[in-house]
Amino acid sequence: MATIKSIGILTSGGDAPGMNAAIRAVTRAARYNGWSVNGIMRGYKGLITGEIEEFHSNSVSNIIQRGGTILKTARCDEFKSAEGRKTAYDNMKAAGIDALVVIGGDGTITGAQVFAEEFDVPVVALPGTIDNDLSGTDTTIGYDTALNTIVEAVDKLRDTATSHERLFFVEVMGRRAGYLALNGAIASGAEAAIIPESQTGDDQLKTLIDNGFRKSKNSAIVLVAEDPSTGGALGLAERVEREFPQYDARVTILGHLQRGGSPTAADRILASRLGAAAVEALKEGQRNVMVGLKNGDIVYTPFCQALSKSKTVKQSNVELVKMLSI
Ligand code: F6P
Repeated sequence: MATIKSIGILTSGGDAPGMNAAIRAVTRAARYNGWSVNGIMRGYKGLITGEIEEFHSNSVSNIIQRGGTILKTARCDEFKSAEGRKTAYDNMKAAGIDALVVIGGDGTITGAQVFAEEFDVPVVALPGTIDNDLSGTDTTIGYDTALNTIVEAVDKLRDTATSHERLFFVEVMGRRAGYLALNGAIASGAEAAIIPESQTGDDQLKTLIDNGFRKSKNSAIVLVAEDPSTGGALGLAERVEREFPQYDARVTILGHLQRGGSPTAADRILASRLGAAAVEALKEGQRNVMVGLKNGDIVYTPFCQALSKSKTVKQSNVELVKMLSI
């Protein structure tokens, strides 16, 4: 096992609040151990273009509270080619980098897995995505902040929905996962969550109208996951117009608002713990693992398992939304 003296750190894919807290933790923990740290700009793209700068302890001062990522981020198609990865490896070696810490979601970890295998490079990943769709951690960095943003927005929408007695479809991010929609619904007291994990063939819109809305309520908020299988907020509102014209439906798509803002305390603590644990993992000789937190403890999960999608929303939470929305 070669001794590590210098690491590179990058953020890739969609940004997530708490990425800066993670960059800070990795940098400070590495410096604490006497390693040098290199900030790689714009994710894998910066590795290919050689945008690499040395980071000191004060390079990460005053960023724990900031959303986004000071390293910038990108989705990089060139890194999907063997040629692009070879250039990235050559630049990494030229900069004297022995190991990488990458922060991002499933695309980032997929890239890390291929790169690590191809060039026998130690890589440790931190789960940074608002989608919470990675196995090997109870929550991902950014998820809690996005959830709080959703709750704040729905609280406001509730005022106008109640006043006008309207049905609101609020579309939230999450790519193919329904964590934000489902837990956003629980936290905001929404009447329903329409998520990809519940597409069992039942007509969730009809169930909502028949069982809840029509019986006892004049207004309702429905959180809709952005996955096409849900029909999306616009699709559902069009159906209401056609099939249930007695209801006045409106649509709000929260979009990239959900990715911004100052990270919550929970995300800052998660990012700080995972960042320090990433350095610990490299010190111990671990490689090609994602660092996560399960039941309050740090765990290391091989990349293939982290990407396995074995984690899924809790069915009991699906039932909870139904039970509490009568
Ligand atoms: O993966 C994070 C995420 O915000 C998803 O929830 C969303 O589908 C996607 O990124 C949007 O990507 P972009 O910012 O590239 O449009």
